[in-house]
Amino acid sequence: MCGIVGVLSKDKDAIKKVISCLKHLEYRGYDSAGVAYPYNNEIKIIKKQGRISELEKMLDFNVETNCAIAHTRWATNGKASDTNAHPHQVGKVTIVHNGIIENADELKKELEKLNYHFKSETDTEVIAALLDNLCQNDNDKISVLQKLEQKLKGSYALGILFSDDDALYAVKKDSPLILGISDDDYFIASDVPAILDYTNKYIVLEDNDIVKINTDYHIYNNDAKREIHHFAYTYDLNSKAEFPHYMLKEINEQPLVIYNLLDKYLKDDLIKLPDLSKYDQIDIVGCGSAYHTALVAKTLFEEYSDTKVSAYVASEYRYQKNFFSPHSIAIFISQSGETADTLACARQVKEKGVATLAIVNANLSSIARECDDVIYIEAGPEIAVATTKAYTAQITILSLLALKVAYQKGLVQSLDDIKQDITHIKEIIVHLINDINYIKIAKKIYQRRDIFFIGRLIDYAIALEGSLKLKEISYIHSETYPAGELKHGTISLIEENSPVIAVITYDKTIDKTISNIKEVKARGAYNIILTNQDLDNEAFDYVIKIPKVNAFLDPIISIIPLQLLAYYVARLNGCDIDKPRNLAKSVTVE
Ligand code: F6R
Repeated sequence: MCGIVGVLSKDKDAIKKVISCLKHLEYRGYDSAGVAYPYNNEIKIIKKQGRISELEKMLDFNVETNCAIAHTRWATNGKASDTNAHPHQVGKVTIVHNGIIENADELKKELEKLNYHFKSETDTEVIAALLDNLCQNDNDKISVLQKLEQKLKGSYALGILFSDDDALYAVKKDSPLILGISDDDYFIASDVPAILDYTNKYIVLEDNDIVKINTDYHIYNNDAKREIHHFAYTYDLNSKAEFPHYMLKEINEQPLVIYNLLDKYLKDDLIKLPDLSKYDQIDIVGCGSAYHTALVAKTLFEEYSDTKVSAYVASEYRYQKNFFSPHSIAIFISQSGETADTLACARQVKEKGVATLAIVNANLSSIARECDDVIYIEAGPEIAVATTKAYTAQITILSLLALKVAYQKGLVQSLDDIKQDITHIKEIIVHLINDINYIKIAKKIYQRRDIFFIGRLIDYAIALEGSLKLKEISYIHSETYPAGELKHGTISLIEENSPVIAVITYDKTIDKTISNIKEVKARGAYNIILTNQDLDNEAFDYVIKIPKVNAFLDPIISIIPLQLLAYYVARLNGCDIDKPRNLAKSVTVE
């Protein structure tokens, strides 16, 4: 949700650097972009609705300046437009903002009484006006920013330039912000990938930190001492390698990501992950695909590990009544580690003294830092907005956690079978990626208006994710139902050639789901079956056969064909696969 960057460079190439950093944050929002920099004793702003590439066309990279701030937007307050694009400038203050100010309307009314007039519909312009007003009676910028923090309610990461001061300033609360450090430059950025072309050294800023950067940097927050981290992962952020889209590249990274996790954590007869067998109640919380992993985990834990698990959508969990016992744990799943609702849930649960565990991708992200314990899924940066490798990596960790409980309870006697499957897992996934004619299947369905997914229990959880992938990148309406539910209403939507995609892997419900498929086929549906069973292919319109593996590994592999089907359907429709409309990858607003 919006990306902000600021650069203070020893060389006078801040415009080039700030834009190159900003491009790595475009996953956070891409409906407008802008830049501001000191120029001829004023702060010049250039901003534009549309992608960063549109902004670039308006920039003169020959302009010499050692300081710049920039923004890429995912609209929250006010539509995407040139006027609502950041930076916003009022008087001597120019800012870029990620977050939402909850008392903006109230503050705006007060400022209007003081003769401030607003051009945009944004809460950010209100912050700029407030800051300008606070500067009227105070020349000390740190004291002004402290006063600002007291007045703002909500979340913010701000990059700030003052027309009467050479330094670059930043403040943050409940929105992520890092400070990047290299020999020649300092950076502020919403996320680490932004700075990696220039440095891998960074500090994770904490709430209420006020940063001043000129020849050096200083963090004001009760004499804060912050550790300098080194980003270890080597990753070419600029390269899709031979792939036309990051999504396809990331799908192809899954064999290695999954194998590496399994190999790391399942060694000899040990599963080197936290022991959850001591908990009698496990809540798993996430949003979107992360919530879908919680549903998968629920069925694994309950069916094979005899452990009650509840899966929750974070934006519901935080407002509902939750029940905990002394033996409860809450697990928070997040690729970005910054999703606002998931983070709020983690804080809330922790305050109640309940054990918390984070399963996240982004190193040192807020959710990772907030929870008592963290397991990193080590998938590497995920650039495509639609998650693929992070989803399967989350499932891999959750499957291992469930397996560990089952093993400890004696429900699984030996790990030999699963270890045997793990030796083939890479080849299995590579086969699923390369040897199935997804384009042929996609051609059958890509022009349809509605596509249905069905499955039971764990297959339903997988179907939900397949359907989400399809709708988010291809814009085709899609719904998922527990297979037995169709005849309770939805079957009325089935007409001649309606695509119905059924996931059939779970032993106990195979025959039942097959019956449901026959019911829709009898009403004209075009059915596609994803299965690890030997079914009579003639009975179905298309069968995608996946190998049968250990039940704890099944969900890791069964999603792969649905990711690729969604990808090729979107491609045939000419969609912007890596940056689907209306979406952003890191959802830092509630
Ligand atoms: C779908 C997708 C989203 C995310 C969700 C949570 O492809 O990527 O549904 O899964 O926004 O994001 P994280 O995992 O960063 O908390």
